[in-house]
Amino acid sequence: MAGNITFTMIKPGAVADGNIGAILAKIAEGGFRIKALRMTRLSKEQAETFYAIHSERPFFPSLVASMSSGPIVAAILEKENAVQAYRDYIGATNPANAHEGSIRKLFGKSIEANAVHGSDSDENAQIESDFFFSGFDRF
Ligand code: CMP
Repeated sequence: MAGNITFTMIKPGAVADGNIGAILAKIAEGGFRIKALRMTRLSKEQAETFYAIHSERPFFPSLVASMSSGPIVAAILEKENAVQAYRDYIGATNPANAHEGSIRKLFGKSIEANAVHGSDSDENAQIESDFFFSGFDRF
């Protein structure tokens, strides 16, 4: 059965562009409820751990460098069938292929600076949520 929780991160480029508020507004507009929210900055080591699944990919060093280049906003979101619903909502990984009006189309600049991360499975939503938030910080 599909879970009701997903994890998202507003990436450094979108934060640097001043788009935190606009992206959170789009998230709310999509019917996603914020269960946890935090602004922080990933160290290189934390970015490597978070994206460990991609460690053998050629883009991994560049992805780690960009994800640790400035502050991010992490959030746990709730909605029915949250993982798939959010992936559909934010648009394709490459903003050039994302549908009109999607978060990645509106705020993404490249496949790497694609504005937001979204979990790709219920299992990863749990792992990624646990990476950033203790039980005390979830509502
Ligand atoms: P995200 O949803 O955060 O998950 C992994 C990230 O790797 C992805 O968004 C992209 O930003 C990045 N990524 C995926 N494929 C490529 C690629 N071919 N080149 C560069 N970055 C990529």
